[in-house]
Amino acid sequence: MKKTVLITNNLPAAAYQKLSRKFHVTWNQKQLTENQLASKAKNVHALLTTLADPVTRKVLSAAPRLQCVANYAVGYNNIDLQAAKEKGIWVTNTPNVLTEATADIAWALILACARRIPEGERLVRSGKFKGWHPLMLLGVDLTGKTLGLYGLGRIGQAVAMRGRGWGMKVLYHQRHRESRLVEKSLNAKFVPFEALLKKSDILSVNSPLTPETKGRFTLKEFKRMKPRSIFINTARGLIHDEKDLAEALKRGLIFSAGLDVYQFEPLVDPGLRRLNNCVLLPHLGSGTVETRNRMALLAAENIESVLLGRKPKTPVRI
Ligand code: DGY
Repeated sequence: MKKTVLITNNLPAAAYQKLSRKFHVTWNQKQLTENQLASKAKNVHALLTTLADPVTRKVLSAAPRLQCVANYAVGYNNIDLQAAKEKGIWVTNTPNVLTEATADIAWALILACARRIPEGERLVRSGKFKGWHPLMLLGVDLTGKTLGLYGLGRIGQAVAMRGRGWGMKVLYHQRHRESRLVEKSLNAKFVPFEALLKKSDILSVNSPLTPETKGRFTLKEFKRMKPRSIFINTARGLIHDEKDLAEALKRGLIFSAGLDVYQFEPLVDPGLRRLNNCVLLPHLGSGTVETRNRMALLAAENIESVLLGRKPKTPVRI
């Protein structure tokens, strides 16, 4: 009898096409709650989930046949890894294939913040643009500035690479120092967290959400940053405190912020939404046709491997 797979949301058809050749696949089309997921997972051997699916202990316990949870994301903070480990369930993610797209979004936010692009666009659309003015919407230069990376994993490295085009100096901080080879190839210098805050002109968050990184940027940290600096987060919203960020922007403690992720996604702090000096995107990091297709295929490949008794290509190390 064919094994069964549940695809929990409407994602590129490549995953369904690949998996349905060998398995019985149910393709759910809209977001499930925890209870709905637990009920639908009851008889399945594999789940293809998105970062919005709460793959909790309750869900995993409701699925005695489950062998694999393939997350359609590089992040996997929506999955109870400990429960999966106890039950011997493989968890996989989609690293590498979304690195460049996510680094591009970080840079789109950097440029949008530095040059106040959304503000300018809104001005033109509102019909209030009355012609060139020497002091209109002045931004900040990027060339030769210091790019600070909180996290120099794959995505952080791709963000750093792009900074070369602007001749930027690169500083980074994370739990472990990267190899000398990586540091040298990016001309990146490891610094203490405090120095990252004080010296960065652009501070980009590219780290996974862990107990250590959760809530790492609060008013206290924003106060230590340069008044003309820009804060970018394309990783996970729970790494910064949204109310504190709104307060910092309102008080002009930093110049601007660019966010692709939110603390209580999809909710966004109303204070933040009212401010002009922040650029807010709806979690578009990996959102290109090519990247999302690659993610779908990789997630499907991981499921196929596990259900056919092989090791998946990109397991999450638990
Ligand atoms: C991820 O893969 O974790 C991203 O946040 C999705 O864009």
